[in-house]
Amino acid sequence: MGCVLITGASGRIGGYLRTRLREPGRTLRLLDTAPAEAAAAGEDVEIMTGSVTDAAVLAEACAEADAVIHLAGHPREHTWREILTVNVDGTRTVLEAARRCGVPRVILASSGHVVGFRENEGILPADSSPRPDTYYGFGKAVLESLGSLYHSRFGMDVICVRIGACFPDVGNAHGMQLWLSPDDAGRLFEACLTAPEPGYRIVWGVSANTRGRCSPREAAELGYRAADDSERFAGTVPADDDSASAYLGGTLFVTTELGVPMR
Ligand SMILES: NC(=O)c1ccc[n+]([C@@H]2O[C@H](COP(=O)([O-])OP(=O)(O)OC[C@H]3O[C@@H](n4cnc5c(N)ncnc54)[C@H](O)[C@@H]3O)[C@@H](O)[C@H]2O)c1
Repeated sequence: MGCVLITGASGRIGGYLRTRLREPGRTLRLLDTAPAEAAAAGEDVEIMTGSVTDAAVLAEACAEADAVIHLAGHPREHTWREILTVNVDGTRTVLEAARRCGVPRVILASSGHVVGFRENEGILPADSSPRPDTYYGFGKAVLESLGSLYHSRFGMDVICVRIGACFPDVGNAHGMQLWLSPDDAGRLFEACLTAPEPGYRIVWGVSANTRGRCSPREAAELGYRAADDSERFAGTVPADDDSASAYLGGTLFVTTELGVPMR
């Protein structure tokens, strides 16, 4: 895998992957609207500044890339207009540029909020149909759907990762269920880059959490082996924390324009 374009590379997960996807002979091409840190000594990176909503920028960014990891966008609820412009149209611009440049594989950052209104009963398969809890979750459902279209029509490998909560620690009871450690994020995205002929897939992006609600099977089929478990943070979550609601999306994702708090 010679050149991997990472959109949204200056963000949190982009930073985790920048250090964890380094490999001899692999160039990481980092695109973001926000400036990226300069290359460290010996680091094989190319830094680009621009928006995923700009087709000309994406044409340049995808040229001779072997894979795209598309992280750029609003990482939580936003206005309808912004979700459509950045998260939906931006994703289409990325997929279309990848297709035109002949990039064979695109990995899309989806979210558990695609199924945020699914009830917390049992273990949820990775490809359960959308029940979004926000415009943000709706936008990620569209992202997955666009990925399916580009796979089926053009034969591109497209993997949608329904990332749970990717932070250094869990923060709350909801995070106990959905945590993806930074190191496991590295392992998972590496598996997404290297799995032979994945076709179109939706997988959960979570660690091996004892209290997990997300099926590990689909990501394991790509070769991902999670090594971390949120249980190590159990003592830090207050006993009266009710963020892990009856719904997978939890209680914390209060909406803006929709105007009503989560049930
Ligand atoms: N962190 C999590 O737990 C989590 C959970 C589920 C899904 N995700 C998804 O993963 C992705 C990365 O999340 P994150 O936590 O690193 O968020 P982040 O906000 O830290 O990073 C997103 C990056 O995208 C960039 N960006 C925004 N609009 C852009 C545009 N038009 N063109 C180019 N770059 C743009 C931002 O400057 C930022 O650096 C997002 O798509 C988010 O929805 C994250």
